[in-house]
Amino acid sequence: MKIRAAVLEQFGQPLNVTELDLAEPRGREVLVRLAACGVCHTDMYTASGVDPSGYAPTVLGHEGAGVVEAVGPDVRDLAVGDHVVTLFSPQCRECEHCRSPKTNLCTAIREQQNLGFLPDGTTRLSREGEPIRHFMGTSTFATHTVMPEIALAKVSPEAPLEAACLFACGLSTGIGAAMHTAKVEEGSTVVVFGAGMVGLGAVVGARLRKAGRIVCVDLAEERLAMARHHGATETWLGGEGTVERALAETGGMGADYTFEATGNVAVMRQAVEAARMGWGLATMCGVAGKGETLDIVPRLLITGRRVCGSSFGGMKGRDQVPQLVDRYLAGEIDVDAFISHRIALDQVNEGFELMHRQDGIRSVIGFA
Ligand SMILES: NC(=O)c1ccc[n+]([C@@H]2O[C@H](COP(=O)([O-])OP(=O)(O)OC[C@H]3O[C@@H](n4cnc5c(N)ncnc54)[C@H](O)[C@@H]3O)[C@@H](O)[C@H]2O)c1
Ligand SMILES: [Zn+2]
Ligand SMILES: [Zn+2]
Repeated sequence: MKIRAAVLEQFGQPLNVTELDLAEPRGREVLVRLAACGVCHTDMYTASGVDPSGYAPTVLGHEGAGVVEAVGPDVRDLAVGDHVVTLFSPQCRECEHCRSPKTNLCTAIREQQNLGFLPDGTTRLSREGEPIRHFMGTSTFATHTVMPEIALAKVSPEAPLEAACLFACGLSTGIGAAMHTAKVEEGSTVVVFGAGMVGLGAVVGARLRKAGRIVCVDLAEERLAMARHHGATETWLGGEGTVERALAETGGMGADYTFEATGNVAVMRQAVEAARMGWGLATMCGVAGKGETLDIVPRLLITGRRVCGSSFGGMKGRDQVPQLVDRYLAGEIDVDAFISHRIALDQVNEGFELMHRQDGIRSVIGFA
């Protein structure tokens, strides 16, 4: 079939919205008609050419939600008409990692996905017979996509898809970091560094876990106002003195849980140093620049602070994304407040510009 898609033709160039061919789903693959897709930093990062593992041409986009339009012959768990959220982090439920509660890093299709192929090592996307690679296993800057069913979370049909799509990446990453990676305890003290999509998600997750104090730190006042809306009990303007302030305002001890959601390694260090002696857990969500390292004084670890990282919020996507969507429907998560701009697929490059200017939290592409 013919689809419209935003193609990264060459690094550093605007995406080209054009017509492509999309082949039918095979085996356990599913054809999804996209209804909405968020524009995320990772798309822009790959488009810039800075990501050493990037490739072109490819169809970007990984924050999608839509409706199943057709299923391959071996599909078990999805049917035509199901509402789905795309998962760049799949859940096969069979590999060693999926069977362990300790991680969400499914290994079933990782290798081919990283190379831009579907699990059988081929693509369904092409143009005049030339294969075009899939991005993050999703390629959702498109009217339609074909994906393995293990990378699709079936969600309530009652959820508006423009809100559901935000659970495909940023929002789940932050909420999950607090709920599933750190497992924030009731009554505890939390400090979140960064109030973008991920940091605000961590604020939400800490609130859902009933933290006692939720401090959010950012450089922008309007983002701190959003943090208060989503559940921060205190907000601070960030900068050099933040660790000292965190210690001073916690009786000299530091926070039970800290979260880093900026991608800046100096802030990661602050998150470690602001964690409490004895048991403080610092969770890193941000993606640092190539070659950058995190500096930690080992004594901080000997005296009981712990450091961990979180990919997709530690969420097992097919099981846990639908649960978050249900909590959104129950009124516990104000997802709509994260949508700052609604744009068309043809405006995807403007979506990048808005993000570059830090104008709003999320632009969401709507497909008519
Ligand atoms: N781990 C994952 O699976 C995953 C998934 C998605 C995104 N990410 C990463 O998470 C990070 C955050 O993503 P986002 O979409 O929220 O980004 P964003 O740019 O919208 O938000 C970052 C925020 O950090 C703030 N900030 C910058 N410097 C600061 C400082 N010194 N102190 C306090 N705040 C500061 C900025 O003002 C901004 O509000 C990025 O690095 C992104 O690549 C990780
Ligand atoms: Zn993303
Ligand atoms: Zn798996």
